[in-house]
Amino acid sequence: MSNWQTQPAARIAGHIKVPGDKSISHRSMMFGALAEGRTEITGFLQGDDCIATRKAFENMGVNIVDVGDKIVIDGVGLHGLRAPNAPIDVGNSGTGMRLLAGVLAGQVFSSTLVGDASLMTRPMKRVAEPLSQMGASVCTRDNGCAPIDISPAKHLHGIEYSQNVASAQVKSALLLAGLYAEGETIVHEPGISRDHTERMLRQFGYEVQSLANGNHRTTKLVGGGRLRASHVAVPSDISSAAFFMVAAAIGKAPSEPVRIEQVGINPTRTGVIDILGLMNADLNYENRQDSAEPVADIVVKASRLKGIVVPEDFVPLAIDEFPVIFVAAACAEGEFVLRNAKELRVKESDRIEAMAAGLTALGVDCEVLADGIIIRGNPDNPFPNAAIVDSYTDHRIAMAFAVAGIRATAGIEIKDCANVATSFPNFLALAEAVGMHIEVV
Ligand code: S3P
Repeated sequence: MSNWQTQPAARIAGHIKVPGDKSISHRSMMFGALAEGRTEITGFLQGDDCIATRKAFENMGVNIVDVGDKIVIDGVGLHGLRAPNAPIDVGNSGTGMRLLAGVLAGQVFSSTLVGDASLMTRPMKRVAEPLSQMGASVCTRDNGCAPIDISPAKHLHGIEYSQNVASAQVKSALLLAGLYAEGETIVHEPGISRDHTERMLRQFGYEVQSLANGNHRTTKLVGGGRLRASHVAVPSDISSAAFFMVAAAIGKAPSEPVRIEQVGINPTRTGVIDILGLMNADLNYENRQDSAEPVADIVVKASRLKGIVVPEDFVPLAIDEFPVIFVAAACAEGEFVLRNAKELRVKESDRIEAMAAGLTALGVDCEVLADGIIIRGNPDNPFPNAAIVDSYTDHRIAMAFAVAGIRATAGIEIKDCANVATSFPNFLALAEAVGMHIEVV
């Protein structure tokens, strides 16, 4: 167990590079392993979640080595994995578990997926049910949670599936299983979810169709093809950069910015930029470059933030960034209202309750809604109380309260921060580099 103690910071400024994108790192490992030929990855996130995905494929017979700052994978092709000799433990990672369920549904061997205490309470029926409709044998426990037991399917066939809530994890699990299925797999989504799987399929030479109808999205592929090895450059993770965007925005010294280098700005991930922009944050892109995934430096200065009603369309595009957006809301003038965000209740923690509990302890006026939160901020004294807050072992809750520490009147003690290593192993070093004061206690 590791607790953090924050102290207020006088000045936030600097030039940093945050680690690789977690979503893209997981996928690069999966695609590299399932492709034919040698894949090289640069910028892979060496966090616990993605390392667990790497180990899963090593345990299924894939040769993966580090060569300098690259990871080199000798892909075994879609049908080359070997049965693991133990349950596959994906740690804290929902993405690892759900996407692997899709891959494993297509194998000729049995497997079991397990995770840590938090992951074993998260809903897995959302992938098990549609995969079963494809003819797979994917069984959760009666409560809909892991362990997930997967047995070889006699025959996988494509399905047309409509999601209730836009989820990239569900879409990706079905597309990955769809590679092994006969015919077409079609996924309809009621909103826009991250499209890294589709981009990577194309990068690995696999045809996939994406159709837009207003905010609805349809994604289709035909099974039976092959993946060809590729070189993947993983951009810096916008979800990690978000902590420093808010740190800079709520800081007190507007003369010097925080620059976060070459961050992934895929439009299916930039909800946090749009939301902070609506809140009057001073935030700009520089040195933009377009390749498989677009990147840019994000330059942020302190400004007077204001509360907003978050547009519903932005919710899936910023789903992982809400904990730190709530911290920005507490530092903003007026009311911040988030609705249509029930998914926050089934992330690494119930992020609505976890944030509301900590914010309330710090003296923030907030109201919990079934599907969101209302926060009435105070730009002059956002966090008046000294408090001990619980991260509920959730990495993003821990880092969000560390950012709040910048403007807290007194220190904040944050409990159980070890899981920050799942997504952002060098968070403390970068926090210090921009002028934040956090001690491990
Ligand atoms: C992810 C998708 C999102 C996100 C998660 C990563 C992915 O989950 O919250 O952190 O890599 O596909 P949902 O697909 O459940 O919304």
